[in-house]
Amino acid sequence: MNYIRVVVFSIVICGSWSIEQLKFPPSFMFGAASAAYQVEGGWNASDKGISMWDKFLHDRPELVADRNNGDVACDSYHLWRRDIQMCEELGLNMYRFSISWPRLLPSGYPNYISEDGKNYYNNLIDGLLEKGIQPLVTIYHFDLPLSLQDLGGWANPLVADWFADYAEVVFSLYADRVKYWLTLNEPYIQCDGGYGTEAAPFLQDAMLGRYLCNKNVLLAHAKAYRLYEELYRDKYHGKVSLSTLFFWFKPSAPEDQEVTDLTIDHWQGRYAHAIFSKEGGWPRKLQKLLNDNAKKEGYSHPRLPPFTPEEIELVRGTFDFYALNHYTTRRVRRVRLGEPPGKWFFDGSDELNTIMFKDPTWPNTSIHWFALYPQGLREQLNWLNSTYDVKEIIITENGVPSLDPGLVDTQRIEYYRSYLEQVLLAINDGINVTGYTAWTLMDNFEWLSGYIAKFGLYAVDFSQPNRTRTPRESARCYSSVIRTRMIHPTQDSTKLNYV
Ligand code: NOJ
Repeated sequence: MNYIRVVVFSIVICGSWSIEQLKFPPSFMFGAASAAYQVEGGWNASDKGISMWDKFLHDRPELVADRNNGDVACDSYHLWRRDIQMCEELGLNMYRFSISWPRLLPSGYPNYISEDGKNYYNNLIDGLLEKGIQPLVTIYHFDLPLSLQDLGGWANPLVADWFADYAEVVFSLYADRVKYWLTLNEPYIQCDGGYGTEAAPFLQDAMLGRYLCNKNVLLAHAKAYRLYEELYRDKYHGKVSLSTLFFWFKPSAPEDQEVTDLTIDHWQGRYAHAIFSKEGGWPRKLQKLLNDNAKKEGYSHPRLPPFTPEEIELVRGTFDFYALNHYTTRRVRRVRLGEPPGKWFFDGSDELNTIMFKDPTWPNTSIHWFALYPQGLREQLNWLNSTYDVKEIIITENGVPSLDPGLVDTQRIEYYRSYLEQVLLAINDGINVTGYTAWTLMDNFEWLSGYIAKFGLYAVDFSQPNRTRTPRESARCYSSVIRTRMIHPTQDSTKLNYV
């Protein structure tokens, strides 16, 4: 379906919505997102240090579907002006990108700050601001300096201080201009994936490593937040949070509600409860279950490393908004007698004895576990709003992959339309969603899927030395949403009657 047809089609079917309900508030920030390792390239440009992703993918190309890596990626290290131009073409209010720790601090420590690294991000930030686009900066998006990984990385408790030192440099250089900060991106993938098979450092230590990492990322985030609070908040009035990946989960049958709640805590509560709940610390029921598992298996230490009362206070309340990465929804059920739990982490958990699956009635995408269930986003926003005391939510990732490199991306157009519709419905429910950054500005290095899975509003030709970027149909539709501040809902009344 071409763009004109999409717009005409949509205008005709506005249903029973009032014009006010169809509109995003004037202050709503539309954006797009990216991350350093996925777009920058320039892996050894100037004095950049080596990240753990550089090292692991050079040593083990077979880990990636197309045996590729982020050495050049979209070459944003050189083509950042074009990236800003694309943000401008789309009419974005906000661009989310991450800083590469080893690019800024080649040794991993603040003993030496790279001039070129510093200037790269200065140029990007200044260039965006010149066009009236707010930078939303992620301080860490998976690319730990190898020097720190060699000392145990995220499983070493010292990492919280290493991270705080790095964050202090970042704030000191850029906090005068950057008003929105994310300390860390998706600690679930960082820890559960990194101490599994899905992300660097691929350590496959699901029983201990991922839980040490879990506690350390919470402390790292909190230390960086407290630092901002103490030294920069009064001067620059910025906002700080961390982004969590949260698939929404629904029970397979009513009797699976309890195990679904535990799944939500396993994915979400382990990384959010300590920060966003009133009581702080680990989610209680889950903590008990995991620690019982450890005991049964003969471990002498609890799975979830306990917090001291001081640590609970350090972490509790370290947020100025909630940052949500939402992609899809999974059904959850307990395993049946003799049935093994789902193996891959999107398919279930051996800790909880669950199977997770895609509801057969939800439309498919080209990726087997990724179904379309837009209502899940609204349900999740309502859950977040009632579970935690959050006053503001920004959706920091939302998007759909395809395997088709072409420019006519009908499914992505419908994905954004239907998910944005749910954002509007959530706003009408009274939830203060203030921004949305689509994943992603352009096709990029999609981790273990290499360059095969495409999430971009812009297609990138990776066979060309200048990595030509071309807008897809979805880019034109998204920019029209931004310009008009409107989406056009379907007439399906069931979607309008949620809550
Ligand atoms: C989440 C991650 O933050 C991002 O790096 C990744 O590319 C997208 N999800 C899509 O998988």
